[in-house]
Amino acid sequence: MSLTCLSQSEEQTEALGRRFGRCARPGDVLLLDGELGAGKTCFARGLARGLGVPDDVPVTSPSYTLLNQYSARLPLYHFDLYRLGEADELGEIGFEECLHGGGVTLVEWSGRFPELRLEGVCVDIVPGAGASERQLTFSARGERARAWLERCRQQEDTTS
Ligand SMILES: Nc1ncnc2c1ncn2[C@@H]1O[C@H](COP(=O)(O)OP(=O)(O)O)[C@@H](O)[C@H]1O
Ligand SMILES: [Mg+2]
Repeated sequence: MSLTCLSQSEEQTEALGRRFGRCARPGDVLLLDGELGAGKTCFARGLARGLGVPDDVPVTSPSYTLLNQYSARLPLYHFDLYRLGEADELGEIGFEECLHGGGVTLVEWSGRFPELRLEGVCVDIVPGAGASERQLTFSARGERARAWLERCRQQEDTTS
């Protein structure tokens, strides 16, 4: 199953992320892909807010640090693999521990390392026709991810 949403603004992309944050459960993983400037971090910021990271805490790309951690309703581990040399280096930054740490794990540029065979909700962001238009395609790898996606879909009619 895959779902496609069109976003017309940064705010709409954040709102989509927020929905995932609200219904996330411990162990949920979200894999974000798309070119530089696609809106991965924007979506991640929304997810963080939905999870309860306060508005005055900046949520930015962990491009150089590889990992940013946030405290919220559940711990949030935000990875960006853009500058990672090889998958082996993930051991040094505690990637596996985060995946199984009872929090929510977000991975920007997960597609650079297909050999990791990560399961989770996949969000692929591509530019649309206008400068502020983005197409977001959601799909699920694994049972847990399917359940998360389904919970988000059911929220659609109530709040956004
Ligand atoms: N619909 C949209 N959704 C997300 N970002 C958008 C949108 N339209 C314009 N933008 C802009 O695109 C940029 C996305 O940046 P960012 O989220 O850091 O991308 P990435 O993490 O994919 O490199 C921001 O400058 C944002 O303002
Ligand atoms: Mg980013």
